[in-house]
Amino acid sequence: MTAETTDTAPQTVYLADYTPFGFIPEKVELRFILDPHATRVLSRIEFRPNPQASDRRFFLHGEGLKLIAASIDGAPVTPELTDHGLCCEVPEGPFVWAAEVEIDPAANTALEGLYMSNGMYCTQCEAEGFRKITYYPDRPDVMSVFTVHVEGPYPVLLSNGNPVDSAEGHATWHDPWPKPSYLFALVAGDLVARSASFTTMSGRHVALNVWVRPGDEGKCDFALEALQASMKWDEEVYGREYDLEVFNIVAVDDFNMGAMENKGLNIFNASAVLASPETSTDANYERIEAIIAHEYFHNWTGNRITCRDWFQLCLKEGLTVFRDQQFTGDMRSAPVARIENVIALRGRQFREDNGPLAHPPRPESFVEINNFYTATVYEKGAEIIGMLRRLVGENGYRKALDLYFARHDGDAATIEDWLKVFEDATGRELAQFKRWYTDAGTPRLKVTEEWDGDAGRLTLHLEQTTPPTPGQDQKPPRVIPVDVGLLNPNGDEVVPTTTLEMTEARQSFSFDGLASRPVASVLRDFSAPVILERQSDSAERAFLLAHDTDPFNRWEAGRTLARDVLLGLVLRDEAPSGDFIDALARVAGDDGLDPAFRALALRLPGQDEMAQALSDAGVTPDPTRIWEATEQLSDTIAQRMRPLWERLHTEMEVTGPYVPDAEGAGRRALRNTALMALSRCDGGAAARAQFAAAGNMTEQLGALSSLLATQTAKGEVDAFFEQWKHDRLVMDKWFGLQVMQARPEKAAEVAEALTAHPLFDLRNPNRFRSVFGALAGNAAGFHHPSGKGYGLMADWLIRLDKLNPQTTARMCSAFETWRRYDADRQQMMTDALRRINAQPGLSPDTTEMTARLLP
Ligand code: PHE
Ligand code: ZN
Repeated sequence: MTAETTDTAPQTVYLADYTPFGFIPEKVELRFILDPHATRVLSRIEFRPNPQASDRRFFLHGEGLKLIAASIDGAPVTPELTDHGLCCEVPEGPFVWAAEVEIDPAANTALEGLYMSNGMYCTQCEAEGFRKITYYPDRPDVMSVFTVHVEGPYPVLLSNGNPVDSAEGHATWHDPWPKPSYLFALVAGDLVARSASFTTMSGRHVALNVWVRPGDEGKCDFALEALQASMKWDEEVYGREYDLEVFNIVAVDDFNMGAMENKGLNIFNASAVLASPETSTDANYERIEAIIAHEYFHNWTGNRITCRDWFQLCLKEGLTVFRDQQFTGDMRSAPVARIENVIALRGRQFREDNGPLAHPPRPESFVEINNFYTATVYEKGAEIIGMLRRLVGENGYRKALDLYFARHDGDAATIEDWLKVFEDATGRELAQFKRWYTDAGTPRLKVTEEWDGDAGRLTLHLEQTTPPTPGQDQKPPRVIPVDVGLLNPNGDEVVPTTTLEMTEARQSFSFDGLASRPVASVLRDFSAPVILERQSDSAERAFLLAHDTDPFNRWEAGRTLARDVLLGLVLRDEAPSGDFIDALARVAGDDGLDPAFRALALRLPGQDEMAQALSDAGVTPDPTRIWEATEQLSDTIAQRMRPLWERLHTEMEVTGPYVPDAEGAGRRALRNTALMALSRCDGGAAARAQFAAAGNMTEQLGALSSLLATQTAKGEVDAFFEQWKHDRLVMDKWFGLQVMQARPEKAAEVAEALTAHPLFDLRNPNRFRSVFGALAGNAAGFHHPSGKGYGLMADWLIRLDKLNPQTTARMCSAFETWRRYDADRQQMMTDALRRINAQPGLSPDTTEMTARLLP
């Protein structure tokens, strides 16, 4: 009796079709007898009928499983098998289902279900991976208490919950908290731990372990500290206490995503947990801290309260991203964190919302749920929570969250449940607000001003429109919180930040009693994920860059100025004004400002952002021209401010032992920014010196980036390789940087050459992304008119799909902007997509993505 997965037409699942499962598993007992090619999984599940359900068909999901035996109440049964699971006749009352299946973890290159990574066994079950481990109702609203026995000749055997007993070759784990199967995890192998402990607010001791391959023990301390900080923060800010005796984290080399919140046993991509000053940059440290926090916070928002179905994914993800962003803001600089989040949101989510993959944070249908772990579900999902918090205030938010935890602990909940707790806790009606969850697309917010000098009144006229998105033509107005502050011409704040609540398509708001015409600072702190359209001259922008009391808008003013300067260069070959350079120099040289903020203010808008800005203005963007203009502007800025770069490069040096804190990171960021500019003037001399003297990876990689960007690297690329070839995570940087910094006409060539490198590994998602993620991110290189970038990307996505559909499908988004471009590029991009789509045996994941991307 075998049921092998074969290619069948992918099926669409609809939110509207939700029905509960007919049976409740009271208890699940699993026994794993591990073997690389023939692992046996024995399951024993006590089911009883679900009184809430009408459908009594007993269907269990199962994919790629070899069924050895099955029984009900001890009597052997012969279920009806399909490619997706099994059906069986069952008794009317409670019964015990038992099954034995065989699986082949060593052959599992998709990295879903039970697989092997560098000799170690690990699992990935979200979203629908558990069905590749055994037959089960693999859906998030089916929750149960699991006991797991693991057997195999390995020193470390882990699963969820608390350890019950263990001896050589076997271990038993019990997780007292009912959970859905997507939170199941198992790890086995030759692992070592770094350990610490945490005492919870009610005085319970929790053992904390970070498990790694021998040799990586020295890279665990930062993760342990971040974990302790997260546990404390969740107690202090949300009143949430941890609920097991142990919290295990495992670092895995081969992983499709960043990390996974399995109950009590988080599994991490090694890149999201291992850190050392020599091998990790400040940005790596910041990301690790955020991901550790994110996965830990899921213990309440995701695990204790989970999702009814996968349409509700943003219920756990949006909220947990919001929480990790709050945490980062508290641990580091809140304004800097906010600016970084908005840059990421615009770069990924706005882009997604503006193209063929646009979808609501809560979609209505999908073919492959893995394709919906998107920037919209995560990052826009988080922005929605931020707007809610702004609208109900800090106290209202805390009351609503307390009610959410009290009312829904142990539930598999919905977006409706979530909004209802806000309504009940704050008395606010949220029917219109709900559109943020159900409607796709980024609203455009147009703002015009009217000044009545006699009355001392400033009126802001606001108008919102949202362009149509696939499947949604009509976009009714949304609730948009618009934070506004008014400044006097001398820079004093005359009206502090006020939240204007826009609910109509057009609306006006007035401020009275003003002695003179103020300057308005609109959409402070980026209070809503919208595109602000506001005519304002460069003098006003320079004023806000110099004086705005809202740090986000201060940065935004500089960003908008830079964008206009770049647009002028691209469209009219207009040289940057001296005013712009002066304004930039003032911020860069202002020692009263946080260095991290100054580094951000000096970062020019990205080339993809410029392409979108041109497209929004009705101009077909030419990526080559954008690249040239960006280079030209960077050269101008570098040369005109050279003494400042020299000063900053000297003064921002951090001496003494490396500490990965926000202060040091800010100084190093500004120093590397200065170095990049300096390298445009000095032939790479300063960068070469920094490379040679570097005491940490931030300095070393900053120097190498500068050298590559200015084509002044000599032996450094090879030297870096020789120094770090034994370290996978550092090698990912080495691969990525060369592609990222390649000239447009060279990018595809460089990427192709790297795929032939002995250390290139198609099976390792980090390595694949280091080359092809970098190629997609090198806008002028990827979009080079030769079409080589497109062709190479398609060739390799086709190869990867045979091994790893999930990562392949995600990376198809490299092509999502094709509509922006000229006819030739459109043709080449859609040809590439069609070529992928037409591959025989293409995975459902990639089939769905390419179909959605194509016209
Ligand atoms: N749930 C994980 C997170 O947000 C992401 C993930 C999804 C990981 C699917 C693996 C597979 O932290
Ligand atoms: Zn998450």
